[in-house]
Amino acid sequence: MVEPTDATPFPALSPATTAVTAGRPSPGPDRPLNTPITMASTYGATGDLEYGRYGNPTWAAFEEALGALEGGRCLTFSSGLAAVSTVLDLVGQGATVVAPRHAYNGTVMQLADLEARGRLQAELVDITDTDAVVAACDDAALVWLESPTNPALEIADIATIRAAAHEAGAYVVVDNTFATPLLQRPLETEVDLVVHSATKFLAGHSDALLGAIVTRDDQLYDVLKGRRDLVGAIPGPGGIIVAGVGLALVLKTSVWARRRYVLFTRWQPKVFGRRFWPGRWTDLALRRRSTLRKERLRKEREQLLAAEEMSTKN
Ligand SMILES: Cc1ncc(COP(=O)(O)O)c(C=O)c1O
Repeated sequence: MVEPTDATPFPALSPATTAVTAGRPSPGPDRPLNTPITMASTYGATGDLEYGRYGNPTWAAFEEALGALEGGRCLTFSSGLAAVSTVLDLVGQGATVVAPRHAYNGTVMQLADLEARGRLQAELVDITDTDAVVAACDDAALVWLESPTNPALEIADIATIRAAAHEAGAYVVVDNTFATPLLQRPLETEVDLVVHSATKFLAGHSDALLGAIVTRDDQLYDVLKGRRDLVGAIPGPGGIIVAGVGLALVLKTSVWARRRYVLFTRWQPKVFGRRFWPGRWTDLALRRRSTLRKERLRKEREQLLAAEEMSTKN
């Protein structure tokens, strides 16, 4: 469960507002509201971009939006597993990586493959058993958390595990695919990296394969960007545009769908026992956030009043 602290306040705008404003071109007469797609393999010399493997304005817009939503700097990749593989490449030869035994199958398979080739040692743990995970952190170079896990929807105590892992000098990564930044912002609990399969809830329409890594650590950002530049696991601009344009709508509707599921199943006699859905664990956190939310609403209102004042003056 991720809870905001005084040191890590909410973004000035709500996630829904951020999703429809961040990474968009500055407004003006006849200016497009969305970033136009750039199809280019090569750019004019002496600029920042140079070559299509190093950057693309269409990615930059999506990276700005997802970075703003997660509260860090974002790099997009050709798929979620390309992002996973880039992160796992951070650890040294033979290092130990702690990961949920019920993590996404592709992640577990990557770990098994790297272990079989002697590249690293994977220690798979029950992510709901915080004591066991904390004990495993001792020898780790990297602690991989997926919370909730796909498909078992198991929840990790991110804050406690993060503290133990950092004490042991390990990187902490959270695969935030299932929660999305609307429900959980792991960088606020000072984890090093957030990973997404944007193919899932973020893109949302089953028409784009996309991955992302978000971090607040500039050094890590540079290392990961360097890997992406060299390996070329880059997204196509078409997939990015599809994901970016739909971001706000998808985030909102996926949360509505989860709420509808909760309301619907509550009265179904055939649904026994506990129900699981991404977001179940956040109810308590949301209640605790109400004070911060009031503060954010106040800031948004102030911005609106200022804008209104300006428009009546002009
Ligand atoms: C939690 C999680 N992480 C990573 C991935 C891999 O993402 P992709 O399919 O975009 O490579 C998936 C895919 O389902 C996933 O569910």
